[in-house]
Amino acid sequence: MDSDAYNVLLIGGGGREHSIAWKLSQSEKLGSLYTTPGNPGTSIHGINVQLDLSEFSNISDFVEEKGIELVIVGPEAPLVDGIADYLNEQKIPVFGPTKKAAMLEGSKEFAKEFMTKYNIPTADYAVFSAQDYDDALKFIQLKDTYPIVLKADGLAGGKGVFICHSEEETKDRLLYIKKDKNLSSAAKRLVVEEFMEGEEASVFVISDGHTSHIIHNAQDHKRIGDGDTGLNTGGMGAYSPAPVLTEEILDQVKQEIIEPTITGMQLEETPYFGILYVGLMITENGPKVVEYNCRFGDPECQVILPSLENDLLDLMIAATEQRLDEKSIQIDNNYRCCIVLASQGYPLDYEKGKKITGIGDIDSSALVFHAGTAEKDGEIVSNGGRVLNVVGSGTSLEKAIYHTYTNVEKISFENCYYRKDIGHKGLKRLS
Ligand code: AMP
Ligand code: GLY
Repeated sequence: MDSDAYNVLLIGGGGREHSIAWKLSQSEKLGSLYTTPGNPGTSIHGINVQLDLSEFSNISDFVEEKGIELVIVGPEAPLVDGIADYLNEQKIPVFGPTKKAAMLEGSKEFAKEFMTKYNIPTADYAVFSAQDYDDALKFIQLKDTYPIVLKADGLAGGKGVFICHSEEETKDRLLYIKKDKNLSSAAKRLVVEEFMEGEEASVFVISDGHTSHIIHNAQDHKRIGDGDTGLNTGGMGAYSPAPVLTEEILDQVKQEIIEPTITGMQLEETPYFGILYVGLMITENGPKVVEYNCRFGDPECQVILPSLENDLLDLMIAATEQRLDEKSIQIDNNYRCCIVLASQGYPLDYEKGKKITGIGDIDSSALVFHAGTAEKDGEIVSNGGRVLNVVGSGTSLEKAIYHTYTNVEKISFENCYYRKDIGHKGLKRLS
């Protein structure tokens, strides 16, 4: 192994982390790659290890044992719990924001206050505590404008946002939020927000606390059903770039949203370091922030990293050394589309353990990233709600979508479900 090579520990085990592991594996700077917990996809590019993240000392012990030089954190929960602060204290280089900076995702109230303070365009809002839910209802009744958006303040895995179309629905939802045990911790505070009309898209930024670069943009499909119907999910597919983000809008996003966010976090003495996911609504009054996330999106990461020509590890190392000003981002000219193959029933109950066939038949126009899969008796089986991601590329969005679906059709497992309309909004805009 090259003595300049970096041994890396990647935290996470979804499709996002498989795509990160795949991209890291192309780096000349990579030594050994460990992923925890990983999945059968990440094990193609490195070694999966099972570490108990509830004790961060398990991470530092492993780092010492294996001579790890960089820890990369995929999902939000460990960041919001302070894993970066712990590793920083141990002088272990880590790519991801501190607990305070991760509050941009961890607390919607914090994010809204921050945006108001720094004049960053977003929906109007009011905040109520769990005891004041009656006041929240009175506030909404007085406003009498529907739809209205209710959001649990804390992390709720995509299950803490409710769009209410009437007073009746608002009452039902408020009652549900109050009583639901899974939401009780996230909903100690409740954000009531103006509904924004428009098309959603997201922009992904890498920041070293001072310098930031847009990596790329994408559009996710959060609902389970075709035509954006049914329950919210973690994301059923994505494509990139999103035509709704014209050059003019992207300039506006940079000047009115990204720059003030990075500068604002510096002024708050919580410089933002890592990947910043800016979820946007493109309204008729310009782009506004729907949410910040403190990490790559899943499945957006799976369409963005194949477009990135830079060495990801080199970029991440430059960020940890505050040298992002030396770097510029190179993106290829292709479109990418990702279809999530899910287990029938997701995001509610679903069966696991179904044998998957056809992964080896994918042609060179597409990639497969594992999400909820497991290896059993030498076979790959389903092991989660979102099971696999197929990512096709092409010189046009139409071709990228075509390459994705023709490869999706080669894969099968019992009760496999996927959306048939990923990219439809983009195609409509380009037609
Ligand atoms: P969030 O977790 O804040 O991103 O919200 C989840 C989803 O709810 C978003 O992706 C939007 O589709 C929708 N949403 C959230 N806030 C608003 C809003 N103020 N106006 C319209 N839609 C919203
Ligand atoms: N795909 C949405 C997210 O990662 O939050």
